[in-house]
Amino acid sequence: MIQTKCKRRGARRLMFTLGMWCLIFVAGGLNAQAAWRTLDKVRVTRLTLGDRQAFQLDFTNGGHGQVFFITPDVVRVRINPRGALGDEKSYAVEDRGTASQAARFTGTDAAPELVSSSGVRVRINLSPYHITIYDRENRIVCEDDGARPAMFDSSTGEFEANLKRTSETETYYGFGEKALPVSRHGQRMVNWNTDTYAYPAGLDPIYQTIPFYIALDKGKAYGLFFDNTFRSFFDTGKTDERRLSFGAAGGELNYYVFTGGTARSPKKVVSDYADLTGRAPAPPVWALGYQQSRWGYYPEARVRKLAADIRRYQVPCDVVYLDIDYMDGYRVFTWDKTRFPNPKNLMSDLRAQGLRTVIIIDPGIKVDPNYSIYTDGKQGNHYVKDASGRELNMNVWAGASAFPDFTDPKARAWFGSQFKVHLDEGVAGFWTDMNEPATFLPDVLDEPRIFHHPGKTFPLDTPHAGDGRPDTHRRYHNVYGMQMARATYEGLKRLRPDERPFVLTRAGYAGVQRYSAVWTGDNVASWDHLALTIPMLTNLSVSGVPLIGADIGGFSGEPPPELYTRWMQAAALTPMMRSHVETGKLDREPWIHGEPFASINRKAIELRYQMLPLLVSLFEEHTRTGAPVMRPLWFEYPQDSRTYLIEDEYLVGGDILVAPVVRPNQVKRRVYFPKGAAWLDWWTGKRYEGGTEAEVDAPLTHLPLFARVGATLPIQPIVQHTGEMKDSDVRRVKVDERAVFPLTR
Ligand code: GLC
Repeated sequence: MIQTKCKRRGARRLMFTLGMWCLIFVAGGLNAQAAWRTLDKVRVTRLTLGDRQAFQLDFTNGGHGQVFFITPDVVRVRINPRGALGDEKSYAVEDRGTASQAARFTGTDAAPELVSSSGVRVRINLSPYHITIYDRENRIVCEDDGARPAMFDSSTGEFEANLKRTSETETYYGFGEKALPVSRHGQRMVNWNTDTYAYPAGLDPIYQTIPFYIALDKGKAYGLFFDNTFRSFFDTGKTDERRLSFGAAGGELNYYVFTGGTARSPKKVVSDYADLTGRAPAPPVWALGYQQSRWGYYPEARVRKLAADIRRYQVPCDVVYLDIDYMDGYRVFTWDKTRFPNPKNLMSDLRAQGLRTVIIIDPGIKVDPNYSIYTDGKQGNHYVKDASGRELNMNVWAGASAFPDFTDPKARAWFGSQFKVHLDEGVAGFWTDMNEPATFLPDVLDEPRIFHHPGKTFPLDTPHAGDGRPDTHRRYHNVYGMQMARATYEGLKRLRPDERPFVLTRAGYAGVQRYSAVWTGDNVASWDHLALTIPMLTNLSVSGVPLIGADIGGFSGEPPPELYTRWMQAAALTPMMRSHVETGKLDREPWIHGEPFASINRKAIELRYQMLPLLVSLFEEHTRTGAPVMRPLWFEYPQDSRTYLIEDEYLVGGDILVAPVVRPNQVKRRVYFPKGAAWLDWWTGKRYEGGTEAEVDAPLTHLPLFARVGATLPIQPIVQHTGEMKDSDVRRVKVDERAVFPLTR
């Protein structure tokens, strides 16, 4: 019986393999050049360089690679399927920490092994090549799928690797910015930074590329970072539910596996990832206050009225944003002098009211011989050229524009130095937009809802300097935005070494957190989008980026008052809190819908200001440990599998649980309290045991909020802006049986 089953399974496998090869053959037939091969047989050499050990891999079909530990808990695999390993430079990885570590060789010639000082073991199977990684308890962390060795196409540079999924219940998180449900199992995701105005839930890709994920199964986690900047993909069991595949259109099969330490905990995975790609510097405290934006705050009188309204309505607020309308014909680093005759005066008056000004900066520089920034950049040879060597000009807001090559250190330094004028005028922070890079399709200016089109960015053969490794846009597209944010951050740091820069970017790549905050682009004024903010932000958060937010109310469209108010509440404790809206729509100011909404919205913002000392301390914690500020429940409670799919609750640090209402007409909602802690209702002090679910009151006036029993929370009385905060007013309250935290001014 068993034999028959095996035979049947064997026959099925044979059919499947034949089918696969037919498929590959057909695909190959479509492209006469295509030549898919597998990395099937490998020769392994044990290398010892000083006190460090590594495996050298030489594949029979020409590929070469190395496998080693970079820390006792992190394995690195680097394979060039087409030849020798070259020198490398990663935009994601900070310079330290990618070299091999001391480890011990064990195993046999047929199955050589490398064991780290913490007992993590890597075993290599020679034919077919596959790697298995074991934790110190001898459990498999992750393993290549021996039945489907990595494949590559020697003519196009494309490749794909396959891991076995540990089980059908394995869930996956991270992947940077994706408009997808909280766990990304059963998905096929593409990484290609794209300007996607009004993206619907499920659209992929959107603005950012962070090819890092955390896998979780029955309390055990591991992470994988695929450091490859080409167009890449992850398939988490969509095409074949037994496999997790990933690959790219070029470059190396270059990845790190984070084994999660002794506990195999998500916390250790994320902190090791942060060690590799960098932590965000502590932001200026004012950037944690409420931020008021819209596309359309002009002229100066309108901005002055906004500031007066903010204070008149007593809505705590720290930041006012100016969108593209402040510029002279959308020329970056200029002002429209009719709309803003004296920006310096304006910003100093705003500052006197406790309001900082952040302005938008786009990468496109208008082609205009009478515009000194353009001519200066041209003279300095800072612009991207097309494949034929001519300056690449493409249309964005200002019409035909040139684009600095942000992968050229000289261009970055030049661009960074342009911020001097704005800093001297009193601008406090910069919002770098359209840096996917996004360009307009020539004939559809009125209908930007074409989500994916090759004409929406630079041609793929556009050359880039690549920081000494010249290559085309195909390789550097996904890092363009991050390098623009870097040019901005580094410029600000050079110009004001004693200040904490504030940069907010739309596009980015892994490691973007070292330079910038991130917002989730042009979202939509819909209940679906409000609900989407929690899975989007918590996953971005565990992808290493702590300072994040979504446009409150939805950028595109018009939210009914109830939706806007629920959004205010849901965002009250997200790391960044900013209202923003597209041009031509009602203002997104907290008082805009009149009473009772104005008072409820104010209360949400007041709650944030009361909690600011906690947010500040969580950002400090991030700089020490790499832990995110906004956390999905599973991150803190990986042993409680009921947390794995929760996407309408989030944690602030480990001690505050937020359960916003994200659906219309709800006055009650169900809340799950994670096992291993007890929780007190913030407003009433009612106690809930962990591991239980309860229906809680959630009238429109109310954000369901809970504090962990036993925690100590730094909170303060309400202030109107962060300039009014005093250390002496901060109370460290113990969350015990009696705690209720009324808002006080
Ligand atoms: C882009 C940005 C948006 C901004 C607009 C105008 O759509 O994503 O936030 O308001 O451009 O600059």
